[in-house]
Amino acid sequence: MKVNPARFLSDLHALRQFGASGVGKGIVRPAYSEADVAARAWLAGRFKEAGLNVHYDPMGSLFGLADGPSILLGSHSDSQPEGGWLDGALGVIAALEVARAAKEAGGPAVSVVSFQDEEGRFGVTTGSTVWSGALSLEEADKLTDRTGVTLAQARESMALMAGDFVDPAQFSGFIEMHIEQGPWLDQAGDVVGVVTDIVGIRDMRITFEGEQNHAGTTPMHLRKDAFQALGAFNALIAERFQNVVTPQTVWTIGHVKLHPDAHSIVPGRATFSMQWRDGDANRLARMEDVIRRAAHDVAEARELEVTFGPMLGLEPVAMDAKSRGALEASAQALTEGRWRLMPSGALHDATNVAQHMPVAMLFVPSINGISHAFEEDTLEVDLVKGLEVLAGAIERLG
Ligand code: GLV
Ligand code: MN
Ligand code: MN
Repeated sequence: MKVNPARFLSDLHALRQFGASGVGKGIVRPAYSEADVAARAWLAGRFKEAGLNVHYDPMGSLFGLADGPSILLGSHSDSQPEGGWLDGALGVIAALEVARAAKEAGGPAVSVVSFQDEEGRFGVTTGSTVWSGALSLEEADKLTDRTGVTLAQARESMALMAGDFVDPAQFSGFIEMHIEQGPWLDQAGDVVGVVTDIVGIRDMRITFEGEQNHAGTTPMHLRKDAFQALGAFNALIAERFQNVVTPQTVWTIGHVKLHPDAHSIVPGRATFSMQWRDGDANRLARMEDVIRRAAHDVAEARELEVTFGPMLGLEPVAMDAKSRGALEASAQALTEGRWRLMPSGALHDATNVAQHMPVAMLFVPSINGISHAFEEDTLEVDLVKGLEVLAGAIERLG
């Protein structure tokens, strides 16, 4: 099988034009946005040209299906509100190129997928979570984005194209190529990472409800300031996590909405995202305990109310030994030893797909470890090396 690097890079750059941010190579292509739907339509055309059968499922996940049984490759083409050009897109275009090269070589049969809403506008890897059966479409439809739009409303933009869910039984396995999104390959000078495990995640919204009042006349000791409560909560969990977490554990408050969001008003309400990730499900549970207690303690001490939204999550998942072995052998043959085994601290659709079939992942370096930012980038020579390692693994798996 001979992949075509020029064709691969040309398609990768073409995809970047959909939702181009105008800042470096960055993109703004959140799930179901105009740019996302247009990018999927363009991808569908490329899949068709490659001889694949185009199919959208009810979530808007786009498949390019080979005839009969096949191996599935891919990732996602939606982005974060401010995203890089490779996060997800790389895995989709690499899959397309391997599907084309495999067809030209007379096999094996390769199908391609771009899952919808991997970046969690509505949940956490929403499209593949629903496909995996872990969340029903009916339940998912009630999820809201940061602005209150429901998934049911957003899905309407793709309703005309949607068919049924694809039967996973036709796939022998799934391999997702992705950028690392962290610093380790770049720092070590390695060109490929073969993933051992993907961490687990928990994610929910928390709201402190205090008392809205005048910012000039309300004495400090009489305030029920929802933002001050959030500040105290943030400090308290960091303190209480000390005996629970490891250096690999991470937690993030990435979205905060204050009401009414004005300079001269003591905020009466603070709604914020609380997300935490670790490779150990027990630790995730202990962290949840700390978070809920800390929020209650802060609310009680400051006479506010606290409420918790639904908790979303994915369990930690180990990669399939055989598929991983094919990636390791391919990396060993093609990188002169410049590859390593590593866990994934980022989430991926592979976690959900693992419910149905063997999965594996490979990473290429992220320059300076930057991702979920317009500056995200990877050397083209590394992108092509990763593509070749992926193709080599598919040949080995037959
Ligand atoms: C997915 O991009 C993640 O948040 O890890
Ligand atoms: Mn991604
Ligand atoms: Mn991402």
